[in-house]
Amino acid sequence: MNFYEILMKRRSVRSFKDQKVPQQIIEELTDAANNAPSGGNIQPLSIIIIQDNEARKQLAQFLDGQPWVQNAPLSLLFCIDFYRVKKWASMSDSDFFGENAFLQFLIAYADVICAAQNVVILAESYGLGSIYVGSILTKINKVRKYFSIPNYVLPVISLSIGYPERIPEKICKLNKSVVVHKEKYGVMNDDGIGEAYNNKYKEFYDNFDKYLQKAYVEAIEYDKQLDTNMVEKLKERIEKFKIKNPAQFLFNIRYPAKAMVAMNKKLFRELKEAGFEFI
Ligand SMILES: Cc1cc2nc3c(=O)[nH]c(=O)nc-3n(C[C@H](O)[C@H](O)[C@H](O)COP(=O)(O)O)c2cc1C
Repeated sequence: MNFYEILMKRRSVRSFKDQKVPQQIIEELTDAANNAPSGGNIQPLSIIIIQDNEARKQLAQFLDGQPWVQNAPLSLLFCIDFYRVKKWASMSDSDFFGENAFLQFLIAYADVICAAQNVVILAESYGLGSIYVGSILTKINKVRKYFSIPNYVLPVISLSIGYPERIPEKICKLNKSVVVHKEKYGVMNDDGIGEAYNNKYKEFYDNFDKYLQKAYVEAIEYDKQLDTNMVEKLKERIEKFKIKNPAQFLFNIRYPAKAMVAMNKKLFRELKEAGFEFI
């Protein structure tokens, strides 16, 4: 399989075999992370390797009980690390204020994601599966405390890795022509946008179970791994809130628009407590 084929077959994996990732592979995955592009090559990155059973269980609890986090034999916790950079700068009679410089923060966030994605791709090429968990940003304090993370270091994403038990077959994506623009940004008209998302989520209207398989496989995996009743509950909520289309499902139920804005308060407070403040 060539590289393109590997990338086109990659899926987020949420169900893992009870089989450890060999140390040699962990070394290579972390080498790939460390060799990722980095703005100015400053490398404001730290990665915590988590394999211990208790730590995996704790991490899963912090991350809303997502069972795949506990079940994966390996999680890598990717952090923006300005602690090390600041220390080095001050020891060198220099200043570093990345924790107050939003631009530098954004670049560091991009650095971290480049590193994490290197791991995803290399893992895939070794027949491993992986799943990002971004909800770590809603539990910064708890995660920092448990993993002894100092000020100026921010855990931003966790990546769970292991040998796949089940791999979701298909997932709906926008047509490439919607995403890719030639030379200049091409503004789509309302009909074009409607059609693009109708194509992406066409099963929503006539086969909700199939839609979930393609668009919200987490719900199915929750039910399989925790014996919950998430899919049924979702259907009840769709009725109750009179959800008529996939956008309403996403932004009224899964990521409620106002609640997402309301989360700013806690996020900014926890960022500040970690030493990051931009205004
Ligand atoms: C930044 C980021 C955060 C994510 N967080 C979660 C998460 O908390 N739980 C989860 O099950 N999947 C999470 N995912 C995986 C997405 O749900 C998944 O990438 C998306 O459904 C597309 O599926 P695919 O990766 O198979 O293409 C995350 C992905 C990204 C890039």
